[in-house]
Amino acid sequence: MHRAKISVIGAGNVGATCAHWAAAKELGDVVLLDIPDREGVARGKALDLLCCGPIERFDSSVIGTSDYKDIAGSDVVIVTAGLPRKPGMSRDDLIQTNVRIVKSVSEQVREYAPDSFVILVSNPLDAMVYTAWKATGFPTNRIVGQAGCLDVARFRAFLAMEIGCSVEDISALLLGGHGDDMVPLPRYTSVHGVPISQLLDNKTITACVDRAKVGGGEIVKLMGTSAYYAPASASVQMAEAVIKDKKRILPCAAYCQSEFGVGGYFVGVPCVLGGSGVEKIVEVELVGDEQKLMDESIAHVKDLVRVVTEMFPELS
Ligand code: APR
Repeated sequence: MHRAKISVIGAGNVGATCAHWAAAKELGDVVLLDIPDREGVARGKALDLLCCGPIERFDSSVIGTSDYKDIAGSDVVIVTAGLPRKPGMSRDDLIQTNVRIVKSVSEQVREYAPDSFVILVSNPLDAMVYTAWKATGFPTNRIVGQAGCLDVARFRAFLAMEIGCSVEDISALLLGGHGDDMVPLPRYTSVHGVPISQLLDNKTITACVDRAKVGGGEIVKLMGTSAYYAPASASVQMAEAVIKDKKRILPCAAYCQSEFGVGGYFVGVPCVLGGSGVEKIVEVELVGDEQKLMDESIAHVKDLVRVVTEMFPELS
């Protein structure tokens, strides 16, 4: 029986929390990797987490390392390496440093885990997933970015608070980029099939959309650094879909050619995630403002990619 292996690059807040969720769900063996200067942190957190096994009842091995040889044979690699936001910063402010980091990480992933499925979490997400695609040379079904799963979770959490129902019963869909660029689709949002427009007024729905858009910023302001519980939970949700071949429909930053008129960029869209990675992009009908917002989101992705290729022509 194949035992799955999940490697998490970056043992900071998001990375360590990914390792935590992956181990707690017993998705497979977990490797937590950081730069040599932070190897002690990676090893310490991994050991601490491993010791939860007897209590939480998982038998996953969890190791910390700075040696990329340890990621060999990974089924899924989650990339969280890079700087987080500080108060007053936008995700785009991180671009130069994080492209450099994600490029170097991706080159190692290409070498040591050439058959893995890669989930990018570092920000600005749309630029990072492009960078990883170019630097790994992986086929587009094996690279995605995590943004939509987090944004939609925030949206569902805020809707549930307003409606006073279980978060589990809310089914929602979002497209487009992370945060400000997201394309909310209240038309496709329901509580067990009951459209939310029958349960909440437009003003409240818009307030939930707006809060989901800036949910990351709200947390940065409160605690001085980026969120990590929900970003990690969303990333592991995607890893689980691939490892268990669940064929879940989840919003991911995936490569779209003709779909949604994108023309060859990674954009947030609903995907079927299963054992072969991105198995299908699910095209949904967009009307009026939805298409306009999607076009704006695609334009922003193109701008970000242009900035990346101007800074690093080798990624063109
Ligand atoms: N290889 C491996 N790890 C690296 C590298 C590298 N080249 N460069 C930096 N790191 C590590 C850092 O040493 C640090 O441990 O990445 C980790 C980042 O952790 P934090 O500073 O705690 O940042 P975190 O909150 O985890 O956010 C990481 O995820 O959600 C995004 O916007 C967020 O871009 C940020 C990323």
